[in-house]
Amino acid sequence: MRVIAHISDLHFGYNDPLLANALTEALAQINPDVLVVSGDLVEHATDAEFQHARAFLDSLPGPQIIVPGNHDLPFYNLWRRFTEGLAKYRRFITDDLQPAFVDSEVVIIGADSAHLYPVKGGKITDSQLDELVALFSTFPSELIRVLVTHHPFDLPEPWNPHLLIGHSRRAVTRLAPVVDILLAGHVHLSSTGTTSTRYKLEGHAMAFVQAGTAISDRNKGETNSFNVIRTGSAEPRQKQVIVDRYSWTKDEREFKCKDSKQYRLSDQGWAEFRVSQVGVS
Ligand SMILES: [Fe+2]
Ligand SMILES: [Fe+2]
Repeated sequence: MRVIAHISDLHFGYNDPLLANALTEALAQINPDVLVVSGDLVEHATDAEFQHARAFLDSLPGPQIIVPGNHDLPFYNLWRRFTEGLAKYRRFITDDLQPAFVDSEVVIIGADSAHLYPVKGGKITDSQLDELVALFSTFPSELIRVLVTHHPFDLPEPWNPHLLIGHSRRAVTRLAPVVDILLAGHVHLSSTGTTSTRYKLEGHAMAFVQAGTAISDRNKGETNSFNVIRTGSAEPRQKQVIVDRYSWTKDEREFKCKDSKQYRLSDQGWAEFRVSQVGVS
């Protein structure tokens, strides 16, 4: 079993220090094997915001797989956006725009979906897609294969499809045979599901997991949250993931697990498994 903590949309410069401290404590208790941060670490992409984000990341467990979001390039000042791009992100956070974690059970690869254009929406270029498909194809299908982006490839219908990565159908069609789980953020609302509803690809469906905003004040009608994903096998050779959503509780002033969903791999791809009390070995 592997435990992956998935946080997103920290938005330093527009965040709540109380929540940041509580998140640090929660993650220390959970003690994940890997921490995934799916973008929008800062709000205005200034030195000061990135310094805060860097100090915060240093207080969290590792290894860490981090990808940039649209706010990690200057978002409100187009001149800065096109002259600076991801320079500050690369300087303060990481120079690796396709980070990877690989062990005997999971492979987690991050991809940069936040380009100069479009400003808010995301895209994966053709060369990125070619590289990702080739890379994931090198790993045995027994591993749980996870792709991390800031922008989502899928959301529960009928959410606005304009929130999805550009040309998402083309990307999903190519990724589904070699990827199990998609992790993303950006919309500041948590959700999980499978790509079988929107994309209907015979024999292939990925599970998708959206993280809400972990610590920012920019929550859109949903309390702050993050995810903990436990990977493993339900039965011999049947891959399973359990996705727990930890939400901020105002009264208790801590993050608590408030929702849990299970997904299993079948011959039609990943599907939700609704019977409770299933152990993961
Ligand atoms: Fe965001
Ligand atoms: Fe975003």
